[in-house]
Amino acid sequence: MCGIVGYIGDRDATPIILGGLKRLEYRGYDSAGVAVLDDGQIEIRRDAGKLSHLESLVNDMPVHGKIGIGHTRWATHGEPNARNAHPHIGSTGEFVVVHNGIVENYLALREELEAEGTEFKSDTDTETIVHLVEKFFAIEGNLLDAVRRTLQHLKGAHGIVVMSSREPDKIVAARVGNAGGVVIGLGENENYVASDLPAILEHTRKVVFLESHQIAVVTKKNVKVIDTDGKPINTQVQRIAWDPVAAEKGEYRHFMQKEIHEQVRSLTDTLAGRVDFDAGRVTLHELNLDAAKAKKIQKIIITACGTAAHAGMVGKILIERIARVPVEVAIASEFRYADPLVDENTVILAISQSGETADTLAAMEEGRSKGGILWSNVNAIGSQAMRIADGCISMQVGPEIGVASTKAFTAPLVDMYLLAVYLGDLRGTLDPDQRFKLVNDLMGIPSLAGVCLDREDEIVALARKFMNMDHMLYLGRGINMPIAYEGALKLKEISYIHAEGYPAGEMKHGPIALIDRSMPVVALAPKDPWYDKMISQIEQALARGGEVIAVATDGDERIPDLTDNIIWVPEVPWLLSPVITSIPLQLFAYHIASLLGLDVDQPRNLAKSVTVE
Ligand code: F6R
Repeated sequence: MCGIVGYIGDRDATPIILGGLKRLEYRGYDSAGVAVLDDGQIEIRRDAGKLSHLESLVNDMPVHGKIGIGHTRWATHGEPNARNAHPHIGSTGEFVVVHNGIVENYLALREELEAEGTEFKSDTDTETIVHLVEKFFAIEGNLLDAVRRTLQHLKGAHGIVVMSSREPDKIVAARVGNAGGVVIGLGENENYVASDLPAILEHTRKVVFLESHQIAVVTKKNVKVIDTDGKPINTQVQRIAWDPVAAEKGEYRHFMQKEIHEQVRSLTDTLAGRVDFDAGRVTLHELNLDAAKAKKIQKIIITACGTAAHAGMVGKILIERIARVPVEVAIASEFRYADPLVDENTVILAISQSGETADTLAAMEEGRSKGGILWSNVNAIGSQAMRIADGCISMQVGPEIGVASTKAFTAPLVDMYLLAVYLGDLRGTLDPDQRFKLVNDLMGIPSLAGVCLDREDEIVALARKFMNMDHMLYLGRGINMPIAYEGALKLKEISYIHAEGYPAGEMKHGPIALIDRSMPVVALAPKDPWYDKMISQIEQALARGGEVIAVATDGDERIPDLTDNIIWVPEVPWLLSPVITSIPLQLFAYHIASLLGLDVDQPRNLAKSVTVE
């Protein structure tokens, strides 16, 4: 996961930046770099690999200065090598940038800049940013406006920090969307910039969090925040408690809320290092696969519990549709006693956030004892499900503290998509055009997740309206059926409101008897191949006097005629729609529980890792 640290003050910036990056090391990265303004010149040290490489580089070729920026990178565009590591410097050597996020239109921007004569030195999307800053500085004559104009040209969600020898007394930091946060740390005659609080907490507890579409101009003595239209913002300085748990929660009330908001970043990181957008390819090195091994696979059994099993249900649809491999989904607690049909051409794929769930581990053992190939999709590094598997796709989401799983639900959805494309490519079931399209569709996912998060206030209003219900029915079809299960699970586990997820077509076979005004129906009706069917389910629920909350795609013209309770989601290719439809349902459950004053992060009777049968 990419990390950013910046410093301006009277002390030597390099050790402060390296120290901050070290505190973000646990998030994972594949290269690191630092840029310092040394005697009026921007000096960069950067390398692939661990921070210790960068430290040796800095020891061999020291850089000193009182202002600097640093970055740990998890590659999205271009190999993890020194050339592609951040910071990125412009053609004149006067501007330098570090960046978290994906520049979704970088190819078009790069072509435009190259046509104007700009030479690129790396394969990254980030390099377009520094060239744009340089170009707009020449027009605007100041760094702040150059950054503002640059932001107008970038598609996607971003955290960007810029430094320039032309204006050596400041760092400019910007946040657009939710590609991770940007936090400014306030000191005495010195200030800090970071992507995450832990990077600066040893220096200061006084911080300002940038909201989306805000830019901070950070000098040694003060911090000025404006919005991207140039209007000044009255910022609120927050004091972070010394309690490390409270500190880690940062600007959020609960870990669950923080983790929901981390999804733009976790989804970006999920793509990093695996997706080559230029080649239209996915590679999952961790599985040690080749075409021959991939072609031998006759069946995949996805096994998991709870939320992870819901991710597996989406995975089944993705792998079958894209890679044309038969997939079964087996609830782990059942699979272990089911005497399953497994042979050496069967893959048992366990999905588990903790990697320690007893039932899931037992299911893996069952699969192993029958001679199957064991794969896992796990978040907790070093956990049992990671260690015992023949291949593990690790979730790139960082620690998940809230008991109700959120970012460790959307990451495996994308992991399953990546697996499907990878298998389809290796097995020859995807032609290059299809593969390019499928890979390209991934590019916008992190920022579309951000669009859902930006609409949190609309969800809060719905949560207020429905927080006192005793029951709710969640309906979905096709690829969004598991999201109905997951939405209902989220609600029941943290709000203690009884909620059922159901395949919408099954409603008429029983649950319809329950529908009346006291049993609202959450209907997942995005523009996917099951849309028309869902419209008729909504009509049936309304005909029984039910109140419907519909999850609908922006621009839908039929749903507003049916209900006023609409959760709007941005348009997305349907194979990826579960990532986008699940986020508002996480927020809905979260805000109901939070409004009810419940212990959201540690709901009664539940544990984060279920290590007993
Ligand atoms: C629900 C939830 C649980 C877990 C389940 C499996 O929000 O978190 O349903 O998904 O206990 O846990 P892991 O993924 O750790 O195997």
